[in-house]
Amino acid sequence: MKPTAVLLLLILAAGGALLLGARRPKCPPADFAPATPAVDLIALRQSIRLPTSADAQKGAIATLRRHAWSLFQAVIAQPSTCEAPVWRRWPDKAETLAADRARPPQAVLRLAIPPEMTLAPNAAALKDATATPSTFEAVNFNPIAYRHVRERRLYDPAVAQRLVAAGVRDIPEFPAGSVVVKTFWRVVPAQGITPLGLWDWSNVHCDPHDCPAAPESGWARHVCVYQSSPPQPDPACPLVDAGQFYSILVADPSEYRCMGCELKLSPGDRLILIGMHIATKETPDWLWGTFWWRGLDRTDGDAWNNDNAQRPATLSGFWKNYSMDTTLSLFNRSRAGGPNAAMFNPYIEGATAGTGVNCVSCHDQATAGGSAFIGLDISAASLEGKLRTDFLWSLASHLRGK
Ligand code: HEC
Repeated sequence: MKPTAVLLLLILAAGGALLLGARRPKCPPADFAPATPAVDLIALRQSIRLPTSADAQKGAIATLRRHAWSLFQAVIAQPSTCEAPVWRRWPDKAETLAADRARPPQAVLRLAIPPEMTLAPNAAALKDATATPSTFEAVNFNPIAYRHVRERRLYDPAVAQRLVAAGVRDIPEFPAGSVVVKTFWRVVPAQGITPLGLWDWSNVHCDPHDCPAAPESGWARHVCVYQSSPPQPDPACPLVDAGQFYSILVADPSEYRCMGCELKLSPGDRLILIGMHIATKETPDWLWGTFWWRGLDRTDGDAWNNDNAQRPATLSGFWKNYSMDTTLSLFNRSRAGGPNAAMFNPYIEGATAGTGVNCVSCHDQATAGGSAFIGLDISAASLEGKLRTDFLWSLASHLRGK
């Protein structure tokens, strides 16, 4: 087994042990057993970018996908003695990036509006009256990543400024085994329904790897998620039980926070998980994986390199309702005529940045200092006078005071 894989295993195993502050669900340290043997990700990236044959490339993508599914299984693992999966027992963004003496408010879950939504060029359209209900995000750092930020004081803008002044262009790199998970949530009331778009390729009518943003309200199919079935269901919006999602039942709304935003919750509401990003420091450029709720009747996503492919049979219950894509590079997989960069979560980047977008091509612009530019208009990016934050946008935007 590779040293990085061993490290990752140890870190995830230590996951539940750590940390301060917020009321995180209690649990003994989480066990983590990767479902697949360790893989040489650098060699895989090479085989995907510069394949020796189409079959070799296909095999490499399948191996990478199996690995990404095993990471998903590792972060969602929940021993029967635990009240929450592994990742929810890790410190969140507010805790990780808090100034020395500032303690974030106590909470079961601290949410925010995803900056990708508010900073997107089509942000106004996403907010209009016909838009879908709000999506909330949470970001959690595993203990290795958390300790790196705290010990190096990377949360402190003064430290960043000193590095920039000294001509340093990169923060100290996150150690191997760091993991950051970003989750996306929607609220389903105790009574009533919450619409949710169902992603499939018929939502875009262009080269599927280079389409403009496809806001969810314009997708061809939607479902209506409920907890208590409405008396008159809308035939255009098939009902789906909230139990088909990973979800959190809100007992006491005062235990939930929205950081810089408004969240109206009532007892009995449920937060449903509609998407998840996972970034693991298994290569210097991280591994990027994304997961989204796929619907219950999608059978067309089983191409060898697509949504449902390689999903482990051991994923059961609502967890098998999620699809996945993953990449190690901005050259996600090549196709005839050049690199194919597409790699996105339909609910987030698909809706805001277009389906030609790629995790790495945006995250490698994550910098603090210099101009006030943040993120989404990557054409304006320049490293001049800035500090790269090792691909992490939450750190970059925190240091910029955004
Ligand atoms: C167009 C830009 C853009 C693209 C494309 C993008 N992201 Fe992000 N991402 C962001 C921003 C901005 C944040 C900061 C969110 C915050 O502060 O919470 C972020 C946050 C994250 C985080 C939390 C760690 C961090 O960087 O702060 C992860 C993990 C992540 N994204 C993974 C992904 C994955 C996986 C993909 C591809 C499927 C992706 N991102 C595509 C802009 C982007």
